[in-house]
Amino acid sequence: ERPDGLPQDLAGRRVVVSAGGTREPLDPVRFLGNRSSGRQGYALAAVAAQRGAAVTLVAAHTADLADPAAVEVVRVGSALELRDAMHAAVKGADAVVMAAAVADFRPVSLAGHKIKKTGSDPEPLALTTNPDILVELVGAREPGQIVVGFAAETGDDTGDALHHGRQKLARKGCDLLVVNAVGDGMAFEVPENAGWLLAADGSETVLPHGSKALLASRVWDAVAARLRDR
Ligand code: CTP
Ligand code: CA
Repeated sequence: ERPDGLPQDLAGRRVVVSAGGTREPLDPVRFLGNRSSGRQGYALAAVAAQRGAAVTLVAAHTADLADPAAVEVVRVGSALELRDAMHAAVKGADAVVMAAAVADFRPVSLAGHKIKKTGSDPEPLALTTNPDILVELVGAREPGQIVVGFAAETGDDTGDALHHGRQKLARKGCDLLVVNAVGDGMAFEVPENAGWLLAADGSETVLPHGSKALLASRVWDAVAARLRDR
């Protein structure tokens, strides 16, 4: 342990974290984006470094956040760029956390020049589906590598947020899924998160309301335990 009391339980480990929201370009000056601030991913990277890991942070668009200390930062724009950066970064990594908000869709075509008004209404925007990077990373997982996903869920008429989280864990095939319950002012653009940590072995831990740094600590606790056991 260091004097500040943080365990050095990730010393000698290499971890990769994605953060922020992807921007899907329409033309040289326009994009489709989302409201992700990147704060949770940055907190994950910072805490992992504080616990001794060698950290690569693959950052899509974020709020104006300072680079975490002692972290290698790789900047990307679109989902396709994030995908390439992740596949390169995860080689030899002990753990991978997909905290980025990846756009589900991107424009079919990227105009080479700025799209101009013509006096009549534009055609509807044609979109295509982005690859599911988390599913790809699970498919390419090296022996013993731990892959963690994130999901922000609300309830609907088919089930509550936890139900949707369980379904998503099964669909993605990752080792751990952090489920944030959205609503009541939680998760988006606010400093506090709350939810569950679901594991492929069936274990479910409540993540109490707290800071993004605290949530990051709980995630690394679970990752470190699995790395010890492998
Ligand atoms: N994710 C990803 N690639 C995508 C979409 C999502 O890697 N194209 C990752 C996110 O980084 C996150 C997890 O998958 O770790 C869950 O993202 P989410 O948007 O909740 O899942 P989707 O499969 O896109 O389902 P939904 O229809 O609920 O958006
Ligand atoms: Ca999605």
